[in-house]
Amino acid sequence: MSETGGPQGLTQVLTPGEHEAADSRRPRVAVVFGGRSSEHGVSCVTAAGVMQAIDPARWEVVPIGITPTGRWVLTGEEPKRWQIEAGALPRVQDDEGPAVLVPLEVDGSGLTVLEPGEVPRLLGRVDVVFPVLHGPFGEDGTIQGLLELADIRYVGSGVLASAASMDKHYMKVLLEGAGLPVGPYTVVRPRDWERHAERVREDIEELGYPVFVKPARAGSSIGISKVERAEDLDAAIEAARLHDPKVIVEAMVTGREIECAVLESADGGAPATSLPGEIRVLGDHDFYDFEAKYLDEASVQLSCPADLSDTVVRQVRDLAARAFEAMGCEGLARVDFFVTPDGAVIVNEINTMPGFTPFSMYPRMWEQTGLSYPDLVDRLLTLALRRRTGLR
Ligand SMILES: Nc1ncnc2c1ncn2[C@@H]1O[C@H](COP(=O)(O)OP(=O)(O)O)[C@@H](O)[C@H]1O
Ligand SMILES: [Mg+2]
Repeated sequence: MSETGGPQGLTQVLTPGEHEAADSRRPRVAVVFGGRSSEHGVSCVTAAGVMQAIDPARWEVVPIGITPTGRWVLTGEEPKRWQIEAGALPRVQDDEGPAVLVPLEVDGSGLTVLEPGEVPRLLGRVDVVFPVLHGPFGEDGTIQGLLELADIRYVGSGVLASAASMDKHYMKVLLEGAGLPVGPYTVVRPRDWERHAERVREDIEELGYPVFVKPARAGSSIGISKVERAEDLDAAIEAARLHDPKVIVEAMVTGREIECAVLESADGGAPATSLPGEIRVLGDHDFYDFEAKYLDEASVQLSCPADLSDTVVRQVRDLAARAFEAMGCEGLARVDFFVTPDGAVIVNEINTMPGFTPFSMYPRMWEQTGLSYPDLVDRLLTLALRRRTGLR
């Protein structure tokens, strides 16, 4: 067990016999973070924020990190361990703590902790998992499926909504199907590109340059290029294909980037929406690319509430709630828009586990709307506790 990350202070590891006696205890929350996607470090920083915000009088926190190779380990919850140090993002190490196994059968026993040379011990039942994970293997339905198999409740969208929201192609199909405005696009499947590249180039020509070329399933702007001229198209498609064999190509939309936070209702009613926020990319970034998102914060201005007319605010909030419902989301989502100079509002994308550090847009938009970060975290955990498990 490493000095920095061992599960010191985690005294509530239960043996099976103690299990029943613990029923009057606080609900136990496993905050699961890190993970296999390129957004590993960001997820660790988010976890620190979430763990600090959880009220220890109401919930018991179990921190579980997933290493970049996919190993689940029990970690420490000291916020300092999971902060950005000297400009470097944190990373869950293999020797961070004992390995954790998720059960694949529904016997109510809970998670198992494995330490080399020791008898496996039960961590006890976890009442709810907060998967603070972004991108593939976290936000895309895979971990949600694992938790469903184990009958463990979790924060956020289920398998279908997570998977469909992660895939920019199916996301648009579902949004269009619900009558929501999305920009013009074309999908480049591996077979199209490998056998009919010329036809693909013609379809893209019809969209008109510039275009945005994106891996269908990625995030944080990874693999995305803005292409101004036909001669740069092939390289952009190949770059996107490194991240996903399926590529989506979109006509460029000229407009402001506006975001809106959505939260599932506590009483089964329509989802709540926040005041919209705006992202402005300054400096020499052509668009909101990876560097602007994480490495060159000075080049990005987040403002909330965004300076918009009441009509546009109403439209954005209405479309955000409709997008949430069209995708079948649960818990939370952030819906991102373009608002064009003539006032048209177009959905760019929906994120089922948006950036969630205390400084991220999603919590900031809720602060501005009157819901504090700790209250937001509490609300998400409470919503998750109410979920049905088992047959649906
Ligand atoms: N069709 C488009 N028109 C104009 N800008 C775009 C378009 N698509 C993407 N962008 C720019 O690229 C950024 C990242 O694209 P996005 O689809 O949001 O991918 P990600 O899921 O990686 O955030 C956007 O925030 C925006 O700045
Ligand atoms: Mg985006």
